[in-house]
Amino acid sequence: MRQSLVVGNWKMNGTRASAQSLAKGIIAGLNDSEAGIAICVPYIYIADIAEVVKDSRLALGSQNVADKASGAFTGEISATMLTEFSCQYALVGHSERRTFYGDTNESVAARYCQAQEQKIIPILCVGETLEQREQDQTFAVINEQLDAVIDVAGIASFANAVIAYEPVWAIGTGKTASDEQAQEVHQYIRQYIAAKDQAIAENLQILYGGSAKPDNAKGLFAMPDIDGGLIGGASLDAESFLKIYQSI
Ligand code: PGA
Repeated sequence: MRQSLVVGNWKMNGTRASAQSLAKGIIAGLNDSEAGIAICVPYIYIADIAEVVKDSRLALGSQNVADKASGAFTGEISATMLTEFSCQYALVGHSERRTFYGDTNESVAARYCQAQEQKIIPILCVGETLEQREQDQTFAVINEQLDAVIDVAGIASFANAVIAYEPVWAIGTGKTASDEQAQEVHQYIRQYIAAKDQAIAENLQILYGGSAKPDNAKGLFAMPDIDGGLIGGASLDAESFLKIYQSI
């Protein structure tokens, strides 16, 4: 049976002080659920938050990772550096990276590989824009995003990865995919992986991201192929993030 997972993506929000109090607030409200819980925080707060979470079951992640191991790559943070601060997860290919910072399917695949080489679990974000959905391109876009990773990392690599389905049109917009719309794509992703490796697909955690909130999380998480969520805006408040987590 797949374990559920809820991941907060703080994006570029907060201050050094608010980041620490948010992490503490989440830890204080944790129940004894078996579902995993993690926060992906701004790079510059990782060291602080690593201290805050160290005796808890709240896992830590980054919002990106470099596509190279080391060297003259100004402004980048390597997977090796992240491991020094107990980062267990790294988002790769978030739509905001793809849209605003030029991350391509190829560079996302390289980031995914760099994370795995250091035993960091990449959370591979995939999803279509509104225009692509309206043109019936959703599955074709997802195929390309997945294939870029499968081609370089292999299907077996998904034993140590998480996928987040993020319909770009639902991110930060308040629009949420309906439970059925989300399930349809999650099922598609699982079947796509299953066609290459059934066992890997059955164990793969596929998270939903895109305006998941305390009042819609339960319905989304009840869908058979939705194993949890990647939560942006609603993860910036401990109470709402915990409510989403408790909906698992
Ligand atoms: P949102 O962001 O929940 O604010 O829509 C989701 C994400 O981008 O991870």
